[in-house]
Amino acid sequence: SDVVDFFGEHQAGIVTPAQDRLCFAALNVLTEDRAELVELLTRWTAACARITQGLDVTDTGFDGGSQYAPPQDTGEAHDLSAGHLTVTIGFGRSLFEDKDGKDRFGLRERMPEALIELPHFPGDTLDPARTGGDLCIQACADDPQVAVHAVHNLVRMGFGIVSTRWMQLGFGRTSSTSKSQNTPRNLFGFKDGTANLKAEDPELLNDHLWVRDGTWMDGGTYLVARRIRMIMETWDRESLMGQENTIGRTKGTGAPLSGGEEFTAPDFAMQGAGNQPIIPKDSHVRLAHPETNNGVQMLRRGYNYADGTDRLGNMDAGLFFIAMVNDPRTGYVPIQNKLARQDALSEYLRHTGSGLFAVPPGIPNEPGAYVGQQL
Ligand code: HEM
Repeated sequence: SDVVDFFGEHQAGIVTPAQDRLCFAALNVLTEDRAELVELLTRWTAACARITQGLDVTDTGFDGGSQYAPPQDTGEAHDLSAGHLTVTIGFGRSLFEDKDGKDRFGLRERMPEALIELPHFPGDTLDPARTGGDLCIQACADDPQVAVHAVHNLVRMGFGIVSTRWMQLGFGRTSSTSKSQNTPRNLFGFKDGTANLKAEDPELLNDHLWVRDGTWMDGGTYLVARRIRMIMETWDRESLMGQENTIGRTKGTGAPLSGGEEFTAPDFAMQGAGNQPIIPKDSHVRLAHPETNNGVQMLRRGYNYADGTDRLGNMDAGLFFIAMVNDPRTGYVPIQNKLARQDALSEYLRHTGSGLFAVPPGIPNEPGAYVGQQL
């Protein structure tokens, strides 16, 4: 079956083996009425329970209702199967308090401390039109039409209550979240997702991914989204050796430069010519590795994107980075600060969009339960 259960202890789309396609949307909440927001989350939950099984949003579907009312499903996924669709919902800091500090829905005192305003990182060139959001929807599936259909219908159902702030499509996963998966490649041609938190390591997930604090977030996580443009025109002129030294792994098998196979642990102490470390000091894997980050690990679940060209004819393509961590203050911010300053890879990257969302725990399969109800 290609159905992933929407209900459970944790939301689907986190440790679910990463599907190949992404449609991600950040939304603004327009209403000031808390009951209206709750009602929308309730309708979204019912819709997600159906579309993740490959069904239309309602029984009436896209062509069975009144001739005089808009259809209850937009229809583009009607003939398609579930395609492992997962829909993961998150809450932005601005849902709890607006930029003037106003408590929008009486939720401010329940705002988690970990739901920070992400700091400005060195080299950030964020586009405000691709940054922030009160809510996020991460829809992943085998088929892009299925993923887009999910976001399309949730937005349609929220007409007048929410509006789309920005949206991102991703066409190829850049991570593995299960040991059953092959490691895919990013647009720089390197295997990506070798060293990642994986579904088969529940203890590591409890230490690094799931919030375990007894609050409404218990069993949830935090989703960091970064739209990272990759400067192909520069990278593609770099020598193979230069590329491998930048990453710290070989381009072919993805093995660490210190030797072995893809999943051999890197040996950061090993030295080569001139007593220089074989895995360079400024390589991406050395700087991102838990050994140099107080043991911190993240679950990366990003996607390749290609959004046409800029006005100079350069590709606007790269990696829509998604990481899930149980505390972005320790699990993301320090690493990103370090990478931005020291990582040789940063020369080829430009962060152009950003978001941080609290992803509440899963939804029990019970009548009346809805996403975010714990809050
Ligand atoms: C590992 C590419 C951005 C964190 C890797 C690997 C590649 C890669 C090729 C080695 C394979 C693997 O172990 O998965 C990229 C590219 C990026 C990017 C092309 C940007 C477009 C980031 C960012 C972060 C990050 C922004 C975090 C702030 C990591 C971590 C690892 C890793 C934690 C595993 C390191 C280890 O334990 O060995 N990345 N990365 N990456 N990356 Fe990135």
